[in-house]
Amino acid sequence: MLKHTLEQGQGLTDAALDRLLPAATQRPTSIHQAMRHSVFAGGKRLRPILCMEAGRMIAGTLPKGITDLGATLEMLHTYSLIHDDLPALDNDDLRRGRPTCHKVFGEAVAILAGDALQTQAYECLAHLRCPAEARVRIIAEIAHGTGTVEGMIGGQVVDLEAERTRPGLETLEYIHRAKTAALIAASVVSGGIYAGGSEDAIGRLRTFGESIGLAFQIVDDVLDVTQTSEQLGKTAGKDTAAEKVTYPSLFGIDESIKKADDLVDSAAAKLDPFGERAETLKALARFLVERKK
Ligand code: IPE
Ligand code: IPE
Ligand code: MG
Ligand code: MG
Ligand code: MG
Repeated sequence: MLKHTLEQGQGLTDAALDRLLPAATQRPTSIHQAMRHSVFAGGKRLRPILCMEAGRMIAGTLPKGITDLGATLEMLHTYSLIHDDLPALDNDDLRRGRPTCHKVFGEAVAILAGDALQTQAYECLAHLRCPAEARVRIIAEIAHGTGTVEGMIGGQVVDLEAERTRPGLETLEYIHRAKTAALIAASVVSGGIYAGGSEDAIGRLRTFGESIGLAFQIVDDVLDVTQTSEQLGKTAGKDTAAEKVTYPSLFGIDESIKKADDLVDSAAAKLDPFGERAETLKALARFLVERKK
């Protein structure tokens, strides 16, 4: 059941991305190849899948055209990964089982490929097939979730500035909520808006997204110390080497996993009023903490 949701969501997302991104043969080819190198490297597509399933929960069926919204979330997420891996940030050589974008195409093109995925995402968002009012709201949600005020970029800044400073839980939670949970929350919220959800439904989806987003980054920190680079498709053990503040570094592995589990339980409870229709999102939330990569 969940396997089907994941496989179907990945297939739909990949098809939409292939349709929406410029062809690798389009001039200037270097940047289009770089964008596709990082996008089509086997990501889990969790943000699009969460978005689509939020839309399905609200509407009862998969809303027409929502795959394009999912694809834009994956473009933005991939842009954040390309930049996260740059020498000036985490300086990583491996991503999604492939050499990182800057390793293959050079730093200049990698920086521009990240920028280009972002502008491409907003061009596609402007063309979403939903009422204009919903479209504008979705664009504002996503821009905010990836921005500097409690959004992805803000979280990345504090993540970098906190290296080697041994900050406490308050800063750690800010980093994780901003760098990761904000885009995950924007993914489920925008899916709910696309499907025409009520204000109460959107509020519940937001709380759900924020909690599973924080759980997701706690698990990312745990996997960094428990898995190998081969299993992850990215360099393991990086957080300790860079002296990042992480959940395992403050609480140990078992306590971190317990915190992630508790967050998922409280997130799932928020969706109880949706009854059976919420089962897929709840199963996805569990999968986020049980995943091994
Ligand atoms: C990795 O995200 C970066 C974080 C925000 C922790 P994912 O674990 O979703 O990476 P992909 O998309 O599957 O490669
Ligand atoms: C990155 O967090 C979050 C992003 C906004 C990209 P990490 O630096 O922990 O992500 P990984 O472990 O490199 O995927
Ligand atoms: Mg990082
Ligand atoms: Mg990183
Ligand atoms: Mg990490």
